[in-house]
Amino acid sequence: MDSYDAFAAFRMTGHQAIVTGGAQNIGAGIAKVLAGAGASVMIADLDGDRAVATAAEIAALTGNPCIGMACDVTSKADIEAVVAATVAAFGGISTLVNNVGWGARHPDPTAITEDEMVASYKLNTVSAYRMSMACLPHLLEAGNASITNSGSFSSATPAYDILAYATAKAALNQMMVSLAHMLAQKVRVNSILIGTVLTAGYEAAGIDAATQERMKRPDNLTGRPGRPEDVANAMLWLGSPAGSWVSGQTLNVHGGGGVVRLFG
Ligand SMILES: NC(=O)c1ccc[n+]([C@@H]2O[C@H](COP(=O)([O-])OP(=O)(O)OC[C@H]3O[C@@H](n4cnc5c(N)ncnc54)[C@H](O)[C@@H]3O)[C@@H](O)[C@H]2O)c1
Repeated sequence: MDSYDAFAAFRMTGHQAIVTGGAQNIGAGIAKVLAGAGASVMIADLDGDRAVATAAEIAALTGNPCIGMACDVTSKADIEAVVAATVAAFGGISTLVNNVGWGARHPDPTAITEDEMVASYKLNTVSAYRMSMACLPHLLEAGNASITNSGSFSSATPAYDILAYATAKAALNQMMVSLAHMLAQKVRVNSILIGTVLTAGYEAAGIDAATQERMKRPDNLTGRPGRPEDVANAMLWLGSPAGSWVSGQTLNVHGGGGVVRLFG
């Protein structure tokens, strides 16, 4: 053997990825790692200006193509536009990361409206289904095609305060496992169940300083909150040839252990 490179299987050279919600935080981390591994990356985000700016930073940092555009993943027309733009720019789509998602905090279960439940389902579940179906003709043409979702550990444990979000993320798990079976031997489909990754989003959601301090020392097996790169590195494994024997799985990336109550 002349030489051996264990990282070769993790290279994404020749892959074309879409990362939804990739303008900041976890999604930006995923876009950076995929581009850093050699993929051409489209960042599709509601915030088009930030998508373009983040993509430019990643392209400069990695030397690989990374572009951004405005896209509301709850809009069928926007999804079709981002798929067309990706194919026009990169010649195909091999890798879809459905990363968009979020939900409001509802400490009082009686105060959650039907509209809020439906909106959460549309944002966290239906958008990923629509994106997947819009990309499917191109994924079917690609080698090592995959769909990976940013799921949440809250989908798999009693989730106080974020019932509408956790319910929709649980539906995402089921939808994607079923899709993995329906697309067997054609497209791999997986979800990462993410734990607490402290971002500016928590502050914006009005989480008080004391709670944020406590969240910096969570009761998990590693004793620290997650970082975007913790999730992004797992996304790379699942999207790259190194993950080509993995499909239909939900992978916990959350520091280990059980998360019982998020906000205290
Ligand atoms: N941060 C955490 O602790 C955590 C924990 C578990 C799961 N997750 C999941 O990880 C994913 C990313 O989380 P984050 O904390 O980085 O989120 P974030 O809110 O920081 O970023 C989400 C991005 O998605 C974009 N976006 C929002 N709505 C959109 C829409 N309709 N169409 C297109 N783009 C839209 C936003 O502009 C933003 O850039 C989400 O699915 C979230 O549910 C996060």
